[in-house]
Parts: sequence; structure tokens; C-alpha cells
Amino acid sequence: MSSGVLSHTVPAADRVAMSLPRLQEMKENGEPIVMVTAYDFPSATVAEAAGVDLVLVGDSAANVVLGYDRTDLVSMEEMIVLGKAVRRGLKTPLMIGDMPMGSYEASDELAIQGAQRLVKETGCQAVKLEAGGVSVQRARAIAGAGIPVMGHLGLTPQTATALGGYKAQGKSARAAIQMAEDAQALQAAGCFAIVFEAVPAEIAATIAARLDIVTIGIGAGSGTSGQVLVFHDLLGITTGHMAKFVKRYADVHEGMVAAVGRYAAEVRGGSFPGPEHAYAIDEDELEDFRRHVDDGHALTSMQSWEWEPLG
Ligand code: KIV
Repeated sequence: MSSGVLSHTVPAADRVAMSLPRLQEMKENGEPIVMVTAYDFPSATVAEAAGVDLVLVGDSAANVVLGYDRTDLVSMEEMIVLGKAVRRGLKTPLMIGDMPMGSYEASDELAIQGAQRLVKETGCQAVKLEAGGVSVQRARAIAGAGIPVMGHLGLTPQTATALGGYKAQGKSARAAIQMAEDAQALQAAGCFAIVFEAVPAEIAATIAARLDIVTIGIGAGSGTSGQVLVFHDLLGITTGHMAKFVKRYADVHEGMVAAVGRYAAEVRGGSFPGPEHAYAIDEDELEDFRRHVDDGHALTSMQSWEWEPLG
């Protein structure tokens, strides 16, 4: 790897654990906040090494790691397995767990129980839920129970069908006014931040400027306090159609296919494994072993094998 690539990582010694007061301070100082999703131990260690501020265990896991075609299909149990793995790979970014569809809408009690489960079982420090309307009251209940909550407005994939599909939101004055009102209501309910997804840049910037809390954009222009992208999208692990707001910083899928293809070719061609991938044995031991086998002794008559740690 070139030093040019590594120059964008943050040395472990310089990383400071993210907190809600620090996040708010960043917003107030105009320091851009960097958020990325992660779904397992390797993606969490990448987010950690790159020194991002916030890591979301997003329900986009449904699409990018579990192969569902909709985020509303992912379960709490699946989110918990992924969240636990992410926790093991993170030290400094603030970890946020996405509440899957069905884990918070029906009642305040359900929402508090769902949020507590995510926090206790995955170790995330905050939760995120989608939309305005009834979610405002659920956010208030969760925040009231002492769990930091992030809202999510604009394109809310859990309710994409009701929104008419995966398309930009807030494109009429009426819809934008509703979004501004939802944002104010989520702030009043105690949310520490709101994600705006697929919203015209001017609308997101205007709403963000009237909020005291942190705003994070994805397809919402540069007028929010920070940005979020889905890990697999920004690395080019995801294939196929990509929303226009995604910027690919690598083509990891192609690199992985090429690498696995080279491995397959070398196995088939007999050049892997080579001598450098094999374990050595002392000549005398090998000789004894061969004599034993060649003398026709049954291997099962041997004493126990002496295992050495693999090197
Ligand atoms: O699930 C997710 O990845 C998200 C982000 C797009 C904000 O909600």
C-alpha cells in the first residue's frame, strides 16, 4: 500500500473517543463530521483505522451484506449479530445501532425495549430510527429512557414503498415544509442528530441551519454538519445500480474477483501452495514415519499425536 493511501488514516495514538458533547462541539465549530456504516469486524477495523467520527450499524446491512432486496426484511436478531461484531472492531468512533423496521413503531414500550436490546446486546452507544410522525414520540420515549437517539428523514428505506419507491424526497414546497416540521419535532423530542437522505441540497441546508443539533447528509448536499456513506458502496463492494449520491473511492469487488480468480488458477495450475506455504519436518522424524508406514504398521496402532501450535 502506498504512503499516499496511508496518509488518510489516523494513527491510533491520535484517535480520541467520540462523545455526544464533542460531536455537538464539532457542529458548532463547523468541523465536518464523518460517518460510515459497518456491519462486521473487518469493516469496523477499517472505520477505526480511518479515524471516522461515527459508525452506524445500518439496516442497509439487509441489502449489502444479507442479500435482501429491502431493508424492512432484516430482523432485530440479525442486527444484533452484526452489531456485536462491529463492537469488537471499534474503539474510538461513536457506535450507533439502527433499529430495524417493526422494533419501535407500535408503542413507546416496544421502542424502549428494542433500543435497550440493541445497546445491551451490541454495545452501541446510540440508536437510530426512521421517519417523522409516530417516530417522533418513539424517539422521545427512547431519549427519555436515557438512550441517545438519531432521527432519519427524507428517503427512509424502511417505508420506501409508502413513499412511492427509492426516490428523492422534499421536492415540493409542501413536502419540504413537512420535513422541516418533522426535523424540529425530532429535535424537540431529544434527538442528538438527524440524517437527511436524498433531499435537495438547498432544502437540507435550510433545515439544518435552523436546527441546533447535528445533521448528517447522504445525498443531501454539503450544507449538513457531516456526511454518511454506506461502507460497501463507497468501497465499490456493492455491484449494480448505485444511487447518484454515492461516490466510489475504490473498486474492491473487482479486486476481490481478480484475487480469487488468481487463487483458483494457481490451485488448478499446481503453483499454489508452494514450498513457502508448507510446514517443515525434521529429516529423522520423517524417516521414522516413512519406515513405520512402509513396514505396514496400521496408523491406528500409534500412540497419541503430538500437536504443536500452528506457526
Ligand atoms: O442503513 C443505513 O445505512 C442508513 C444510512 C444510509 C444513513 O440508514
